[in-house]
Amino acid sequence: MHYSTILALAGAASLANASPLENRAVAKFPAGTVWDIVLNSENTDLATLKKAPGTVIDIDLLDLTEAGDTTTIKELAKTKQVICYFSAGSRENWRKDAKDFGSSDFGKPLGKEWPGENWVNVKSETARVIMKKRIEAAAKAGCSAIDPDNVDGFDGNQDGYGYPRSAYADYVKYMADVARNNNLAIGLKNSLDMILDVLSDIQFAVNEECHEQEECDRYAPVTKAGLAVFNIEYKEKNCSAVPGVTLSSVFKPMDLNAIGGQC
Ligand SMILES: *[C@@H]1O[C@H](CO)[C@@H](O)[C@H](O)[C@H]1NC(C)=O
Repeated sequence: MHYSTILALAGAASLANASPLENRAVAKFPAGTVWDIVLNSENTDLATLKKAPGTVIDIDLLDLTEAGDTTTIKELAKTKQVICYFSAGSRENWRKDAKDFGSSDFGKPLGKEWPGENWVNVKSETARVIMKKRIEAAAKAGCSAIDPDNVDGFDGNQDGYGYPRSAYADYVKYMADVARNNNLAIGLKNSLDMILDVLSDIQFAVNEECHEQEECDRYAPVTKAGLAVFNIEYKEKNCSAVPGVTLSSVFKPMDLNAIGGQC
């Protein structure tokens, strides 16, 4: 969120019947996979989410689990691969595990648009333990994959820590290891400078506004690796082809609260 914001599915049935979890293969997200994303889903009922176009849906893990919702993800997982979003690079002060962060585990605020959110110190062991617990919770909830957001604090030194990009790649690789150990796939959120650092650790990428920023071409290595590039545009629907890149694009309102908008 710079806007600070299969099992090549042989059919949904295979996913539904896949159990126990430990025996499940890590989900694949091939280039061109049709997807949807609904993060602020409190006004979107399960029946609507089920109607989302495509075989993949990205939804907010902690919003659901903290509300005691143990059914939505499992229900969606009967017909879709569920990517579970959480903010890995910010401490959100309203989360149940917010108290687990010590004062040295997070720093400056993300900004006015994101009240209550502060950049996480990606070198913090405590932060890693918190993310490990979230990833384990994602596996338990029935997610196929995780979408850890805000891992681009290095970009323009926006988190103020001044760490090299390698510290963030290390953080993503740590989460990728935990995800793999829990049979979950993982995507790289934005962080275009980090694509080559983590390409061998990820199963897809999630992007915001690469058309708007005219940088979609930088996803060529992801397409070449056969992986999906899940793109969200907020300003305008742009379904332009980008040479060498296969995009799975959706056009959405900024608050990501509704299904649809695919190219
Ligand atoms: C649509 O995306 C293309 C390629 O990313 C870009 O060159 C173009 O300017 C965009 N169109 C609009 C209207 O923004």
